[in-house]
Amino acid sequence: MKILFVGLGNLGSQVFDLFVLRAQRGDQFLVGGRNLAYLRERTRWTAAAALQLGLSVQIETTSLDVWNIDQTAQTIATFKPEVIFSSVTVQRSSIISQLPGPYFEQLAKARSGPWMPLTLVLVYNLMQAVKHTGLPITVLNGGSPDNAHAVLGKVGLAPTSGIGNLALAVPPLKQALAVQFHRPLERVQVLLFGHSSVMQQLRKGTIGGVPMHLSAFVDGEEITNQLDLPALLGTLPATLEHEYTQLLTAATVASVLDAVTGKTQETVHAPGPRGLPGAYPFRVENGSITTVLPPRFSLEEAIRINQEGQRRDGIERIDDDGTVSFAEQNMAILKEVIGYECRRMPLSEVESWAKELHARYRTFADQVGVKSQTG
Ligand SMILES: NC(=O)c1ccc[n+]([C@@H]2O[C@H](COP(=O)([O-])OP(=O)(O)OC[C@H]3O[C@@H](n4cnc5c(N)ncnc54)[C@H](OP(=O)(O)O)[C@@H]3O)[C@@H](O)[C@H]2O)c1
Repeated sequence: MKILFVGLGNLGSQVFDLFVLRAQRGDQFLVGGRNLAYLRERTRWTAAAALQLGLSVQIETTSLDVWNIDQTAQTIATFKPEVIFSSVTVQRSSIISQLPGPYFEQLAKARSGPWMPLTLVLVYNLMQAVKHTGLPITVLNGGSPDNAHAVLGKVGLAPTSGIGNLALAVPPLKQALAVQFHRPLERVQVLLFGHSSVMQQLRKGTIGGVPMHLSAFVDGEEITNQLDLPALLGTLPATLEHEYTQLLTAATVASVLDAVTGKTQETVHAPGPRGLPGAYPFRVENGSITTVLPPRFSLEEAIRINQEGQRRDGIERIDDDGTVSFAEQNMAILKEVIGYECRRMPLSEVESWAKELHARYRTFADQVGVKSQTG
């Protein structure tokens, strides 16, 4: 299989390591990014680790700037990957944690919705480039898939699926249920629906008033009514609050890759499959992604839950042409702290809003003494 990595930052490099260490004979990797010297050095470590395991994996690097759609399309058309994993972002959302405490706490209340231009713009460019090549490529995207895919889905440019976010809660939930019901892990199944805004709460062991849906099964028998949900969710921070390595996130990418490439028929969880808002369990049937729904629960209900989560994240509405309306309450925080305000963003304006937001954040970070760390 030919796999193109676009962006090899914190998340991308962890996913890359995992993919290379799981590589099959004949797999080829191309890693594209703006800092070729860094890419060469970073991929060399992974190749050496693979060799240590007896794997000789073909890895190339290439200069690639996703702001340049033509160059990106050219790179894709030349390499002809079956799969692209993207984790490009103008600025990662966790960057605000580098600010002095009070500013971080204030900006964190705005949630991730208002920052959407920063993650959306590059995956939008990437998907335009993919479309331009006309190649049938599976695209997995890590950057804000709960929100970005819902926008791109409106204009026929949604990546195949997102990864991570709510999917990270599935393994620790299964572990807790196996202990609670005294059953082996492999006999426990959960079906989980929710937006990344509920995931932020789950890290603290609660849903914090954000809607989600959980159905649980042991040996195929539904046990949802027997769950002590507060106690169950209370077990999550032990895994999720301290997951700094991105290893669990990387594992969700591998499981989605196996599902979408037909390597397994397992049900997997991921945000943004087929351009849907928020996360769903799905499996791949006859080559297409099919959401897996528990009894008495419809896809419409799942979408409603995820759109409500989207609103809690600061996104009021996404119109049919991809125009995003941002919630006043969330945007007011960015206006007050960094002087940025966008209430309505037609997709055609995402680049200029991303550049303005990035510039405003950098200026603010400089003012409060957080110089070289603005991403
Ligand atoms: N779904 C999940 O569960 C999950 C988990 C973790 C992270 N994330 C998200 O994934 C994204 C990446 O996070 P991260 O921590 O890996 O961030 P990061 O370390 O800042 O990585 C971002 C990467 O994008 C590259 N990049 C930026 N602009 C580019 C361009 N124009 N062309 C090519 N490459 C470009 C950067 O490289 P250069 O700037 O050096 O070119 C860098 O390698 C973020 O949006 C984050 O919120 C999602």
